[in-house]
Amino acid sequence: KRFIVINGPNLNRLGKREPSVYGHETLGDLEALLTKTAIDLEVEVSCMQSNHEGELIDCIHRSVDEADGIIINPGAFTHYSYAIRDAIASVDLPVIEVHISNVHRREAFRHHSVVSPVTKGQIVGLGLYGYVLALTALAKGEE
Ligand code: DQA
Repeated sequence: KRFIVINGPNLNRLGKREPSVYGHETLGDLEALLTKTAIDLEVEVSCMQSNHEGELIDCIHRSVDEADGIIINPGAFTHYSYAIRDAIASVDLPVIEVHISNVHRREAFRHHSVVSPVTKGQIVGLGLYGYVLALTALAKGEE
């Protein structure tokens, strides 16, 4: 099985960006962690990051032919992008939404996700380990 990990805006700044909220590990560290996890789970993983809504949407569409499931952290788009929500709804793949921080203990605008209703599930507040859990769930899941 093959899975795509999609990280949205500002996540290229991981490690430097608000480390008290998002930690000191970088996007490269996350990708290395997921590569190692994929080997353990005997699946393939590929990672992409973009700051651009349209590129994220194109990647979600491409995943139909390239993957068996998607792990996505849409960054701030989580809270207002109906276009990303519709892209997720348009693909017949299991999608798990991940947030590094616990969005529920932060600003009110972060409490609502417009994408959650079209995902299989959501993991928040567990740092980079949330992606490991999401990949494990997809690799071992029924779908
Ligand atoms: C985030 C939470 C969002 O509110 C924020 O805009 C991000 C990162 C997280 O991983 O905790 O960019 O998705």
